[in-house]
Amino acid sequence: MSGDDAPLRIQDLVVRYGRGEPAISGVSITLGPKEIVGLIGASAAGKSTLLRAVQRLVEPESGQIFLDGLELTRLPPAELRGARRRLGMIFQEHALIERLSVMENVLTGTLGRTGFWKSVRRRFDPEDVQEAFGLLDRVGLTGLEGSRCDELSGGQKQRVGIARALIQHPDVLLVDEPTASLDPATSVRIMTLITEICSERGLAAIINLHDVPLARRFCPRIIGLLHGEVVFDGPSSALDDTVLRRVYGDEAIEDGVDAGLGESTASDATAPGEATAAGGTTAAGGEETLGR
Ligand SMILES: Nc1ncnc2c1ncn2[C@@H]1O[C@H](COP(=O)(O)OP(=O)(O)OP(=O)(O)O)[C@@H](O)[C@H]1O
Ligand SMILES: [Mg+2]
Repeated sequence: MSGDDAPLRIQDLVVRYGRGEPAISGVSITLGPKEIVGLIGASAAGKSTLLRAVQRLVEPESGQIFLDGLELTRLPPAELRGARRRLGMIFQEHALIERLSVMENVLTGTLGRTGFWKSVRRRFDPEDVQEAFGLLDRVGLTGLEGSRCDELSGGQKQRVGIARALIQHPDVLLVDEPTASLDPATSVRIMTLITEICSERGLAAIINLHDVPLARRFCPRIIGLLHGEVVFDGPSSALDDTVLRRVYGDEAIEDGVDAGLGESTASDATAPGEATAAGGTTAAGGEETLGR
C-alpha cells in the first residue's frame, strides 16, 4: 500500500508543549484501510497528545499528517474545520453536554455541517434526526432518546459518545481511553461495539488503551509508545513480556498493575450479554443499557 492510499498517515511527527522535552518525538504511523490499532503506553507516554495532534488541537512542531492523502498539517483553519469532521473522536469522559438529552447530544455531532447557530437553536434537519434514531438503536439506546445525559450510566454515556462520533460520517475514529471509567464487563461490551461498528462501516481506528488484555483482545495491531517514541509496532500476538517491559518498564511488569497484567484482569472476563464480533448483534444485552 502506498502511503497515499492510507486513511491516516503520520510522518516524523514531533509535538512539544512549551520548551520541555517533546511529548511526541518522531512518530510515524501508517494506518491501513479498516485497520484497528491499539495504542498502549504508560501514563504521560504521549497517547492523548498523538490523537490531539492528528486533529491539530495541538500544533505539531514538525512532521506531517495525511488524511486519505490530504495533508492536514498544511491546511488553513477554514479547511481544517471541514477535515476535522472526517475524524470521529470518542473520549474517556464522554464529553457530553450533561443537561441535554441523548438525542440532542448525538445531534451536536452534526454541528460541523449544520452550522453553529442552527445547532444552538436546536434546529436539526429531519434526516439527521432520523439518522440519530438509527444510530441510537445501533448502540443499544432505543427508548432513551429523550433522557437527559446526566441520568445515564457511564456505559450508556459512552454509547451516546459513539453515536455522536458516527453521525459526523468520519473516515477514521480516534478513541481515547474509551473504557477507563467503566467496569470490566461494560468495558468489554463497549470495545465490542466500537470494533463491530468499525468493521461494519469500514472505518480505521486508533484506540488508546490502558488495559493491555483489552488491547490484545480487540486490536489486531498494537503500537507501544514510550516517552513519545514508538517502541513497538506489530501484531497483538507478538505482545509478550519482553515487549511489555520495553513499553512499560520492568517495574510495571513486576507490579502487573499499570499495564493491566494481573492474572485475573477484569477484561478477560466474559461479559454477560456481550455481543460477539461475528454475531453481529448489538451489544445491548447488558444491564447498563437498561436504565442504570
Ligand atoms: N496541555 C498540556 N500542556 C503541557 N504539557 C502537557 C499537556 N498535555 C500533556 N502534556 C504533557 O505531555 C506528555 C504526554 O501527555 P499525554 O496526556 O499525551 O499522555 P498519555 O499517554 O495520554 O497519558 P495518560 O495515559 O495518563 O492519559 C506528558 O508529559 C504531559 O505532562
Ligand atoms: Mg491520555
